[in-house]
Amino acid sequence: MSYLTNIKIKAVNALAACLLIVSYSAEAASSGSLLTMGLASRTQAIEKLVIEKKIKIPYSYIAQLMSLPNAFGEGEACTLCHSSSNSTVSYRGLDLSTCEGIKEGSTESPLRKIVMPGNSEEGLILRHLRNNRMPLGVPFDSPVDTQNILTIKKWIDDGAKNNTIFNSKVLPLFTQPDAFGGSVSCIQCHVPNPGLHYLDLTSHKGVINGVTRQTGWRDTLPVKVVIAGNSADSILFQRLVENRMPVGINPVENSEHPNLTILSSWLAQGANCD
Ligand code: HEC
Ligand code: HEC
Repeated sequence: MSYLTNIKIKAVNALAACLLIVSYSAEAASSGSLLTMGLASRTQAIEKLVIEKKIKIPYSYIAQLMSLPNAFGEGEACTLCHSSSNSTVSYRGLDLSTCEGIKEGSTESPLRKIVMPGNSEEGLILRHLRNNRMPLGVPFDSPVDTQNILTIKKWIDDGAKNNTIFNSKVLPLFTQPDAFGGSVSCIQCHVPNPGLHYLDLTSHKGVINGVTRQTGWRDTLPVKVVIAGNSADSILFQRLVENRMPVGINPVENSEHPNLTILSSWLAQGANCD
């Protein structure tokens, strides 16, 4: 398992990442650097030539994406680690090497689906391909069941109230550098406007309001990050426990990869196995 521990993400200084992302969006918005615009213009072309024209995505293309390295950004092939429903040889008992396996999802407890055929936006596989775990740059093997993470979970499940628990136990965690693994605090980046990514984690109001300003990759705002009573569906909780795939991918890699657009389209078309 040494390849698992030898991951690139550890080398990423989260603050440098933060600066890179800022300059990335600024550049992409104005003239554009060759590196980042390359992917963006490919995605644009795929949207125009494949998605708008309703070209049918065959399962054979998806099968290749799952078995090729670098298919969604630099990293090992999905099927290296998810190739069978036997959880002793395949993480989460997730078999991404067959169409049925993709539809079945994770067969290890907790059992869960990773795709919702007919829906291009929802599903665990899309979250794991698009979203970086927080704090940005946290190593993938940082435990996900720590007391601090459970404190956030319980606060959400108990109704996400602005009470003593929130003010004495939850809010301070966002300012503590090592509260959730990694070495930067949440509020190094998520401060009141113009905080990076326009999510203010310095007050109850900020946390409840969620993402309030356009950052370039979303059409609809605001985005609630907390759903009172439901930690599983709360983005805030998901971002603390879900690692971006493939394992060790550099968090500054653009997540709007053309192949991700194609995967979404295959899902929207019903995830047909032919
Ligand atoms: C080097 C091994 C490795 C590679 C490569 C890898 N994964 Fe994973 N994956 C894991 C591990 C370990 C977990 C469980 C721990 C976690 O969620 O971080 C996991 C979890 C997941 C989950 C969450 C399943 C659940 O029920 O929680 C999804 C979805 C997923 N991977 C999809 C992918 C996709 C898609 C790719 C290819 C882009 C990929 N993985 C590549 C090791 C890997
Ligand atoms: C180094 C900067 C940085 C740090 C530290 C950081 N974040 Fe983030 N966060 C970002 C960026 C950039 C994004 C959007 C891009 C992405 O998904 O990677 C983001 C996205 C999010 C989102 C998703 C918002 C959405 O649009 O859906 C949540 C929730 C979040 N962060 C919570 C946290 C929490 C909680 C912490 C502390 C554990 C934290 N972040 C630490 C930079 C950071």
